[in-house]
Amino acid sequence: MHATAQAQPNIALVKYWGKRNAALNLPAAGSLSITLDALHTRTRVRFDDALADDDITLNGERDEAQTRKIGVFLDLFRARAGVAVRAHVESGNDFPTGAGLASSASGFAALAIAVDRALELHLDARELSMLARRGSGSAARSIFGGFVEMAAGTRDDGEDAFAIPLLGAGAWPLKVVVAITTRKRKAISSSAGMDHTRDTSPFYRDWIAGVPGDLDAARSAVSTRDFEKLAQVGEASCLAMHAVMMSARPGLIYWNTATVACIQCIRSLQADGTGVFFTIDAGPQVKAVCLPDDAARVADALRTVIGVEDVLVSGLGEGARIVEDAHACA
Ligand code: PMV
Repeated sequence: MHATAQAQPNIALVKYWGKRNAALNLPAAGSLSITLDALHTRTRVRFDDALADDDITLNGERDEAQTRKIGVFLDLFRARAGVAVRAHVESGNDFPTGAGLASSASGFAALAIAVDRALELHLDARELSMLARRGSGSAARSIFGGFVEMAAGTRDDGEDAFAIPLLGAGAWPLKVVVAITTRKRKAISSSAGMDHTRDTSPFYRDWIAGVPGDLDAARSAVSTRDFEKLAQVGEASCLAMHAVMMSARPGLIYWNTATVACIQCIRSLQADGTGVFFTIDAGPQVKAVCLPDDAARVADALRTVIGVEDVLVSGLGEGARIVEDAHACA
């Protein structure tokens, strides 16, 4: 009745921003991502008959709102297993949580894998991806490694809204340089930001309508390893997402001064022929996706940008998986 899992965050190159059903966490459009290898979530789960309530610790702290959210997530698995037993969950990240580094993606992917093993459900990757989606839309993608596509699906029950692996991490070993511009938690969660954008932006429909074309371009760039094409669609999708966020009323601005300075730094690297493009999620951190030989130059350049607190360099990594208990929680 216990297991430990590890998962890594993923970074979307074609962005997800909008739900077609909030209760089932169904995306309004598909997305395409890369799973990282340098940032980790480790989650240990132990079901215990003696517990009256779930006991949940995230990065060494107990938080009522998170406990409630994770309890609801655990109920999905308990219902499948036909049990009511409560669980101890201990989860730790070796990177800033809730700051636009996709900690919810790795968190719910690791939890799904650990709970599946602890309850001996033996669900397949597709089912685990759908369950991870219920915790966080992007978590459905961190079940898999490398390049991953998430399908929006059309069914009301969400049984066709899951991620699939497109290309393994080793098949096109790009690097991602992450420029951390703050370690503070974001003020507005992705879910709240998505609802607000859908409800108030005059451009929301156009944003959603543009995603399938971006997905086609990105999928084809991945299959032909066309970095230039991936760079164009990746930056366009990122900027279109931030444009629709900013066009909400009141506008959502996740960037800070250093975010913009990093974009300008990457633009001048591109002008010098460096193989790099940027992407930014619901937070101020900048992720620079690069050709492997250019990663060191990009990291050096981003380190000199005023306001950049730290720079991490990551390769592409594997999907969520069970690890030995001895290695548990960071
Ligand atoms: O999975 P969520 O609900 O945290 O939303 C993720 C939203 C973005 O990170 C901004 C985009 C994406 O596709 O990951």
